[in-house]
Amino acid sequence: MTKVGILHPGEMGSSIGACARQGGAEVFWVSAGRGPYTHRRADEAGLVALDSLGALTTSVDIIVSVCPPHAARDVAHATVAAGFDRIYVDGNAVSPDTARDVAKIVRHNGCEYVDGGIIGPPALRPGGTRMYLSGDGAGKVAELFQGSNLNVIDLGPGDAAASALKMCYASWTKGTSALLLAIRTLARSEGVDEALVQEWSGSQSGLAERSQRAARGSSRKAWRFVGEMLEIAHSFEAAGLPGGFHRGAAELYEHLSEFKDADKAPTLEEVVATLLREHE
Ligand SMILES: NC(=O)c1ccc[n+]([C@@H]2O[C@H](COP(=O)([O-])OP(=O)(O)OC[C@H]3O[C@@H](n4cnc5c(N)ncnc54)[C@H](OP(=O)(O)O)[C@@H]3O)[C@@H](O)[C@H]2O)c1
Repeated sequence: MTKVGILHPGEMGSSIGACARQGGAEVFWVSAGRGPYTHRRADEAGLVALDSLGALTTSVDIIVSVCPPHAARDVAHATVAAGFDRIYVDGNAVSPDTARDVAKIVRHNGCEYVDGGIIGPPALRPGGTRMYLSGDGAGKVAELFQGSNLNVIDLGPGDAAASALKMCYASWTKGTSALLLAIRTLARSEGVDEALVQEWSGSQSGLAERSQRAARGSSRKAWRFVGEMLEIAHSFEAAGLPGGFHRGAAELYEHLSEFKDADKAPTLEEVVATLLREHE
């Protein structure tokens, strides 16, 4: 039975762990330093707790990093410092340059690096979530998830293809959500929100509803989107393209980080009020 470590069982990571179990693996996580929500998610997903990273690195064949993007390098450093030298998958929303850095960090200790990029909601049902992989070891990782809720797509060789695809995808989805929230706030601040919604209803159908969905869907995760937007900005800049769109999106999500532990998703009204207050 393949033994897999998940660092860490967040909303997505716990579902990836559950999918590896569906595929027949035994899945472990490290409880040290993690909060109550992570403990609960890991328990619900049937993952086995170990009390230190050192215990994990000597117990598993494959480690999958699924953490906030800004922590991807630190998690890789800590994992190799704890002695890991087998297959390391970075499944985070990071730029191609960050993916290549992580590859260097883990190879330095003898690991095989596989790049990953996850698209879709936590993989709680079949057919809704894709994990793109790239790198020579991608096939071995894909085998883990056979018959599970997760669709795995092997993009072939390359240390950063999966991350690059994730950056392109999220630059549109999360970038346009941030733009819509900024537009609704500007319209409110200038007293033309009702007129804008009326105009959209005739000429840009769906945008009013999409801005409401953006408020509900993005605000509690905004703190984590800051790092992802900066990774996207860096991806554009490294290709000689403007990064300003997503630096702006990062700033907007930073203003919404107070919603991190909100009991329920905020409404558009609440999000607009927060953004207006930030600019007073
Ligand atoms: N959720 C989605 O729908 C989705 C979709 C596509 C891709 N992803 C990708 O999946 C990754 C994780 O997302 P998620 O939704 O699982 O996030 P999440 O629910 O916020 O969970 C993040 C996990 O990482 C841990 N963590 C928090 N701060 C950390 C740090 N500084 N260093 C190491 N670990 C830390 C958290 O533990 P504690 O909170 O207990 O400290 C938690 O277990 C991201 O790279 C994201 O882009 C997520």
